[in-house]
Amino acid sequence: MLSASKLPGVEKIDAIRYFSLGRHALVAGLRALGIGVGQSVLLPEYICRDLLAAVHAVGAKPVYYPVGLDLCPATFQENWPTAAAVLVVDYFGFPQPLQCFRDYCNRTGAVIIEDNAHGFLSRDETGILLGFRGDVGVLSLRKTFLFPNGAALVIPNASVVKHMEPQLEFSGMGVGGALRVKGLLHRLPILRPLVVAGAIRLARRVRRLRTGHAIPPPAADAETVIPTTPLPYGGMLRDLTSCDFSAEISRRRMLYDEFSDLLHDWNIRPVFDSLPENVVPYGFPFRADDSLATKVQQLAERRGLDTFRWPDLPDALVSSAPEHYRRTWLLNFLW
Ligand SMILES: Cc1ncc(COP(=O)(O)O)c(C=O)c1O
Repeated sequence: MLSASKLPGVEKIDAIRYFSLGRHALVAGLRALGIGVGQSVLLPEYICRDLLAAVHAVGAKPVYYPVGLDLCPATFQENWPTAAAVLVVDYFGFPQPLQCFRDYCNRTGAVIIEDNAHGFLSRDETGILLGFRGDVGVLSLRKTFLFPNGAALVIPNASVVKHMEPQLEFSGMGVGGALRVKGLLHRLPILRPLVVAGAIRLARRVRRLRTGHAIPPPAADAETVIPTTPLPYGGMLRDLTSCDFSAEISRRRMLYDEFSDLLHDWNIRPVFDSLPENVVPYGFPFRADDSLATKVQQLAERRGLDTFRWPDLPDALVSSAPEHYRRTWLLNFLW
């Protein structure tokens, strides 16, 4: 098992399980919490539709609370529907304030699932790692490092640990060719951004010719089916051991500052006013209309980086979604 000193924050190594995807980690977390058929899980409305598949996998029902422009709950917890668990999302690696969620749990007996799929290595203002502040926490390591797959369930609540299934075998295959090629390109010593940008453009052109879509559209069954095996890939712990976490933290924070400056006069609205000291951002989230976002996309591409709209909302919420759920883009720092 990876030594505790290598993976930040994991002092209790028997309280972590690795998976291929965050969705599989969430399923394991819901099971460990004893949540299943006939129960509800309270989710933010501002969420990617794929996540619903984890809730459905245990037979539970999603219910929702609204989210404001600041990505915090937009209504008082007293008005939220009753549920056995509430999902707290640290959007884009920025810490979600927990007080209203704690109040909700104290009032209703629900448990907190902290979803830090976006911000592995990010911490709150007191220095606590995101994902470690609830009853269970979800990390999607593959969104921070260009791994074939990789996610984790962390279990800070000792009473939940005993309900955890053992670690699955590290024998998943990970994703196919495209990501591997991307990984190799990223290791080029020189001209890396240009080569990566060219390769991304070429791959998209080929895909558009083959399928009609430059970027694959979301799967129709994404709300009910989690793709791929839950098994983490064979080399995951080895790869994690060789990661330079502090270099990655600096790289992400520097990119954030750089794009904040570059985009300052562009008439886009950053989602967050500033980058707090302990935050390790997933990317640079901003709100813009489609034409401006396309220009940001082109700027990012020249640096070998991707920009996409986030999230693909749950089908049930699309038609009533307020503008700020639909106009948010992420310039992704995954490298
Ligand atoms: C907030 C959030 N949580 C969880 C997940 C699931 O992570 P994964 O894609 O690794 O299953 C996602 C995926 O996009 C996400 O955006």
